[in-house]
Amino acid sequence: MKETRKIIYFDNASTSFPKAPGVPEAVADFLRDIGANPGRSGHSQSIAAARILFAARESLCRLFGIEDSRRLILTSGATEAINLVLRGLLPQGFRVLTTPLEHNAVMRPLRYLLRAKKGEIVLLPLDERGRPDLATLRREVGKGLNLIVVNHACNVTGQIVPLREISKLKGGVPLLVDVAQTAGCYPVEVESDGIDLLAFTGHKSLLGPPGTGGLYIAEGIQIEPLIRGGTGSNSESEEQPDFFPDRFESGTRNSAGMAGLLAATEFIMKEGVESIMNKEKRLGARLRAALSAIEGVTVYGDGAAERLANICSITLKGVDPTEVSRILDREYRIMTRPGLQCAPAAHKYIGTFPAGTIRFSLGYFNTLEEVDLAVEAVEEIVRRFHRANG
Ligand SMILES: Cc1ncc(COP(=O)(O)O)c(C=O)c1O
Repeated sequence: MKETRKIIYFDNASTSFPKAPGVPEAVADFLRDIGANPGRSGHSQSIAAARILFAARESLCRLFGIEDSRRLILTSGATEAINLVLRGLLPQGFRVLTTPLEHNAVMRPLRYLLRAKKGEIVLLPLDERGRPDLATLRREVGKGLNLIVVNHACNVTGQIVPLREISKLKGGVPLLVDVAQTAGCYPVEVESDGIDLLAFTGHKSLLGPPGTGGLYIAEGIQIEPLIRGGTGSNSESEEQPDFFPDRFESGTRNSAGMAGLLAATEFIMKEGVESIMNKEKRLGARLRAALSAIEGVTVYGDGAAERLANICSITLKGVDPTEVSRILDREYRIMTRPGLQCAPAAHKYIGTFPAGTIRFSLGYFNTLEEVDLAVEAVEEIVRRFHRANG
């Protein structure tokens, strides 16, 4: 008989599903009714497309408390935004301070630049509750740093890095914050959080389409563009425009995706980030507590540390995480992500390298019933392996 059980999607930290109401329609409407290239041709369809990009930019700025929307660069996601900063800002012989919780979106370009520009990466130690060692931060700021890079919430444990403590001590060093996991489900405010460079993605908790995201660049920070090319502006010149956002937006934007991201951002602001966070807190607390109570299950991350409620990484004693995720998918239709989740540094930090964990990541549209079904499924899998081994 054909499998009819509904899927339970707990892989929202990879990408959210379903998207916010209105997102698929906004993408389809753009492709069907507008279609033109924004800022290029001056005809009414092109102007309509430019209006969508403008509205998306303005909407994202309202969400993140950014005043000048020209300083918000639309990108294909957090990875492009982070590369733009790291490659465009770090000089030869740079010194960067970062944390042990970074995603490969940060670590891979940094490792490459380490060789190419003979730089240095300084790791900021965190205590067992995830608080940064402020003495190290103060010392390193005093020794000269080109950039501080932090992952706002670790995509393996959900652990939050306290931005305000870091930004208070950073002096004149620019602070790049990767809010890939927090944007849309945890308050992020560039002014009050002291963020100079904000890299975000549209396809996770912002509930928008893949291939969308952006970068905010505060005034006074000098960055070279990652790519150069046509912008629709200053076409008489073969030199890259020097004004924002065109300086950093060469080539055609993902306008259809941005139409979807506009719908998603409006939805998030209508619901309220706080109320999204609170709902995810209720779901996450129940999942964490129930999984922690199962013998043979380890839930990662100090329970007392502040964390994103929607991420819960576990291991089952003696069982490969990939096998557990496979069983959850094939037998229970529960989607999780096993392994290292593109963050080997974070797994080394919590002691789960190289096998990794099984990550449950909840979203705004999950329910308590789904959480309870997942807990029952894990209990059954534990019992099964326990019987088989003993
Ligand atoms: C912490 C973190 N940073 C960066 C990224 C990359 O985001 P994007 O897919 O938008 O490039 C991810 C996504 O997996 C992430 O979890």
